Amino acid sequence: MKPAAVVFDLFGTLLDIASLNDAAAGVATDPADFVTAWRDKQIAYSFAAAVMGLHEDFDSITARALAYTAAKFGVTLDLLRRKRLLDAWFGLQAFDDAAPALRALRAAGVRCAVLTNGTPATAATATANAGLADLLDAVLSVESAGVFKPDRRVYALATAHFGVSAERLLFVTSNGWDATGAAVFGMNVAWCNRAGAPAETFGPAPRWTIASLHELAAITSQSTP
Ligand code: LAC
Repeated sequence: MKPAAVVFDLFGTLLDIASLNDAAAGVATDPADFVTAWRDKQIAYSFAAAVMGLHEDFDSITARALAYTAAKFGVTLDLLRRKRLLDAWFGLQAFDDAAPALRALRAAGVRCAVLTNGTPATAATATANAGLADLLDAVLSVESAGVFKPDRRVYALATAHFGVSAERLLFVTSNGWDATGAAVFGMNVAWCNRAGAPAETFGPAPRWTIASLHELAAITSQSTP
């Protein structure tokens, strides 16, 4: 397809959440387990906030999820450690394929944007620190809609920004539920399944399943609609 733009999820798609593991070293016996539980709770709270109409921004949701996860693992976080863990979201590494894929798309004249649950400030800092800011035409935050993905109003921020209908956009995410949400909204979706996760069994399937962002150049050069 020749999309009007490619819209990326940020955390877990362009930026690697496993970069938090270093900050979690010493917090739990298995830092990766701790980070996975933290991320899962962060997403669970964002869903609950959207369904309940009880919005707080993603920084706050992330901090609440951290407090819950620490309690679950039976650890007490002193202020310094807590700050280190929360600040680590600003320093996430880009996946190796992120910058080359963005460069290839832009070289082909395709506009690229981020659409993230993250706050405008956190998303801007994280993309800049990961070296991706100059490769993005826009960083769109759910805060303009006051609700989290997969609420339709969030995906509508991207169509409004580019002034096109949903089927003109290619949405790229590693989160299965985000792929479903964007597909429900009518976007073309490429689910980046680096982790080899099982396909979602609820809702419309993504149009493409890719193992790496490198595959996007081939998708966007296809002449099929
Ligand atoms: C984001 C979430 C899903 O970047 O982490 O929107």
